[in-house]
Amino acid sequence: MNKYGHETNPVGINSREFIWTDSDFTKVQSLIYQRAGINLHDGKHAMVYSRLSRRLRETGYKSFKDYLIWLEGNNDGREWQEFINALTTNLTSFFRERHHFEILEDYLRSGHHKGNLQIWCSASSTGEEPYSILMTALDALNHQSKLKLIASDIDSNVLATAAQGIYHVDDLGNVAPEQMKVYFLRGKDSNKGMARVKSEYRNMIQFMTVNLVEDNWSFQGLFDVVFCRNVMIYFDGATQRKVLERIHRVMAPGGLLFVGHAENFTESRDLFVLKGKTVYEHR
Ligand SMILES: C[S@@+](CC[C@H](N)C(=O)[O-])C[C@H]1O[C@@H](n2cnc3c(N)ncnc32)[C@H](O)[C@@H]1O
Repeated sequence: MNKYGHETNPVGINSREFIWTDSDFTKVQSLIYQRAGINLHDGKHAMVYSRLSRRLRETGYKSFKDYLIWLEGNNDGREWQEFINALTTNLTSFFRERHHFEILEDYLRSGHHKGNLQIWCSASSTGEEPYSILMTALDALNHQSKLKLIASDIDSNVLATAAQGIYHVDDLGNVAPEQMKVYFLRGKDSNKGMARVKSEYRNMIQFMTVNLVEDNWSFQGLFDVVFCRNVMIYFDGATQRKVLERIHRVMAPGGLLFVGHAENFTESRDLFVLKGKTVYEHR
């Protein structure tokens, strides 16, 4: 509020296509926190305006206030999904944090897991991470072991991209030439400069929407390996703990949990023991 009792607007009402106030931003913060556990800090004001403006254009609302009132009272999941998709951050890459894939390879080669191998990549974004896991696992096991790999995310758009498995060759620099030959088809003519994961490998991954902060996961069996990287960073401490407890429940004893480089869960040592840099073992 300013000294006249009016709401202040740091981004400047007049220069914007839609009316956007501090209380609209506070409302967005609260809705995305309730739905996805994501903590949007105040520095995200301009980013939120720009990402959600597209939703106003699509739905025809002229002000954020009206759009948000409608959204809140709306039971149709489609716009909620669009709202969530607009606000997630999906940065990822092939073999990001390479040391994790070396640890995964050692773990699989040493035959720690019992029976069929089950892996869950729980914030898979556009697919670079689950395909990196798949290549590592198949190479480590000489394509011999039965593998169940689930890739999930809250964002339905990134999952659709992941299932397509099409990437710019420029983004495949971390994939070894041998793996390029085995796992990818290079585009020709109008698809030159692109590569696609071969269908037999795409089909080995089950893509599904899973919200990490909702208590309705319906997995069968226990996972030997879970990747949950660079997503809990958006959650507060209490949410992180709840998600960790749930992940713990769906993992096999001795299984490995891989987390992002800026995530630290040593306080949850009752659930997971730190095994190496950002890798935890299920107790
Ligand atoms: C920064 S990306 C990280 C991608 C990948 N794990 C990596 O480390 O390269 C974060 C991903 O978490 C997803 N995400 C955010 N909140 C989520 C939630 N509540 N449940 C599941 N996924 C979520 C986002 O949609 C996004 O794709």
